Amino acid sequence: MPITRVESLVYGVTDMAAGIRYYENWGLEAVERSDSGAVFRTPAGQTISLRPIDDATLPTAPDGEQSTLRQTVWGVESADDLAALAAELSTDREVTSATDGSLSTVDESGFSIGFAVSQPATVEAAPPLVNLNENAQRLNETVASLPQARPLRLGHVVFYISHDGADRAVSFYLDRLGFRLSDSTIGRGDFMRCAGSRDHHNLFLLRRDGSAGFNHAAFEVRDFDEIMMGGACMKSHGWQPDTTPGRHILGSNLYWYFRNPSGGNTEYFADMDCMDDDWEPRIWEKSPGFALWSIDDPDQPPAPPPASLS
Ligand SMILES: [Fe+2]
Repeated sequence: MPITRVESLVYGVTDMAAGIRYYENWGLEAVERSDSGAVFRTPAGQTISLRPIDDATLPTAPDGEQSTLRQTVWGVESADDLAALAAELSTDREVTSATDGSLSTVDESGFSIGFAVSQPATVEAAPPLVNLNENAQRLNETVASLPQARPLRLGHVVFYISHDGADRAVSFYLDRLGFRLSDSTIGRGDFMRCAGSRDHHNLFLLRRDGSAGFNHAAFEVRDFDEIMMGGACMKSHGWQPDTTPGRHILGSNLYWYFRNPSGGNTEYFADMDCMDDDWEPRIWEKSPGFALWSIDDPDQPPAPPPASLS
């Protein structure tokens, strides 16, 4: 039952107009849109749904009294995978099945999770061309200006979980759902990737003293130029960065975070570490830190981010 990726996200939001405007400015295509909600789609075929916070059909969430993520749907390859998941998970929790065969249940922290047969779309994306010394990959071509970012795909989601029961919460993903551990900082956080993914992480569970809650969703763009030009576009529309741009230590990805009115942050990321089952999970006694480097912006001094957040 290999899980391959984040397939879709469902938010419950208080300010629908702001929520829609934010994801439009973020660079996603709206495929459905009305006063009562919207659905955005990534070029890779994943969906992000915004629904009114008072929609009674929304799944509950530990932090659901405010705008936040209400459900993360994980993609699998086949209907047989869904059947295997339903059989396994229903041994100790309620699993509901929709008419399209997708499943819903709840993880150990109280977050609603779903499973659906993945609908991947092929993304045409050539790696950026770089000129170095005598090796000119970008001969007779200039670097283009981008009016806004165009994220290719949704890469990962991050949640705060409570220290109480945190080991059980992580074990659910590793031992029940087959996620692979990439990096773990003891007592702080665990970076996990789907069995069918090579991303350093598709899920990061960050422990804290408080209650569980959503932290961010991350979207891959082509390169650092797109992060910077996409972020400049977001700022020009009045959206607030949550960090300055930088490069993470764990995962190595370039990043820039913004505050999403629909809940949590969104992250532009690029050039994340890729790994397969030859990768030996790294166990850190002490957090190696947040960033290899980050840009110092005197106009927007960032609050120190959580030590192992990525
Ligand atoms: Fe991230």
